[in-house]
Amino acid sequence: MGELRGTHVPVLLERCLELLAPALGRGGRTVHVDATLGLAGHAEAVLAAHPETILIGLDRDTEALAHARVRLARFADRIHLEHAVYDELPEVLARLGYPAVDGVLFDLGVSSLQLDAPDRGFAYAQDAPLDMRMDQTRGVTAEEVVNTYPHPDLARVLRVYGEEKFAGRIASAIIRERERVRITSSARLAELVRESIPAPARRTGGHPAKRTFQALRIEVNRELAALETALPAALDTLTVGGRLVVLSYHSLEDRLTKQALAERVRSTGPIDLPVELPGSGPTFRLLSRGAELPGEEEVAANPRAASVRLRAAERIDPEQAQHGRTDRERYRRRVKAMHQPGTAAGSGRDPQRSVRDGTDEEGEGA
Ligand SMILES: C[S@@+](CC[C@H](N)C(=O)[O-])C[C@H]1O[C@@H](n2cnc3c(N)ncnc32)[C@H](O)[C@@H]1O
Repeated sequence: MGELRGTHVPVLLERCLELLAPALGRGGRTVHVDATLGLAGHAEAVLAAHPETILIGLDRDTEALAHARVRLARFADRIHLEHAVYDELPEVLARLGYPAVDGVLFDLGVSSLQLDAPDRGFAYAQDAPLDMRMDQTRGVTAEEVVNTYPHPDLARVLRVYGEEKFAGRIASAIIRERERVRITSSARLAELVRESIPAPARRTGGHPAKRTFQALRIEVNRELAALETALPAALDTLTVGGRLVVLSYHSLEDRLTKQALAERVRSTGPIDLPVELPGSGPTFRLLSRGAELPGEEEVAANPRAASVRLRAAERIDPEQAQHGRTDRERYRRRVKAMHQPGTAAGSGRDPQRSVRDGTDEEGEGA
């Protein structure tokens, strides 16, 4: 294991601790899952704040796990660090004998360890073999993706995962180059991307290769597919009062998170019944109002925080939810408001649609 490169500052650390505290500090032994352990910045703070809490830390990157193990050495008797993809959480919990947990944190994306590593190919600013696998023990590399994907697939990856306007042009340039010689280095790829973008566009929006590298990383690591499975599985493991916090850095990650939470905070029963049918009430409540953004101070101190979006939710007792602010109650309030002229709801918008499609994002506060 080499020296740590760069400085790692955990993103939205205080807010994460604040959100997790009611779940982890309930007295007795509580269990927290850090699904993206990384360099264990969040994990260390959680363990320090909650002396009774057991930590289960997952990471698919063996190098990150090795660093985390050193950092968390003083908590050795209450940590389990596992080499796993986070969609394997149910199997990990079953193997360790924890049927349910009290807190789960996802801090998505790459760690500074991965980004700063000169040999792993994540960074467009450093020349390295085009690898980009978070788990270097398995899976396809970015080199295989850029040298084998047909044009439509390459362009789709760049457009969807990188939100790259010039995806088609970049894909064409990659194909022309690889017909001449195999593309094996991050510096050559970054140069190709820069050359395929019109000159005026090169001067805006940061480094021209940033979006392409992000897209390839998401594809290589199948990040969105893993997240789509992992979020519902993580929600299922939480006890009543247990809390989930997700930090996303990409609109697609944030959308998956929003959808996974929306599924749980709404009623599945007929919306116009005055009472909730057994088993149809919401099972979670939102703790964040929409997606929470970082403050200016945090972004100035930690540029990695600039794109973060935080969402959080708490599992509730469905019986008690009947007495809380449920979808049904919101629906009734909106119908009432519709009949009051001069209000937004009174403009004739269909209240049921806005509630039931999960866009009604009223956080309840932490
Ligand atoms: C942003 S870093 C986490 C940083 C961490 N919160 C800290 O304070 O040090 C994200 C970590 O998640 C890991 N990771 C990303 N996707 C993963 C997945 N699907 N399963 C497991 N680990 C994953 C990466 O290898 C990386 O180490």
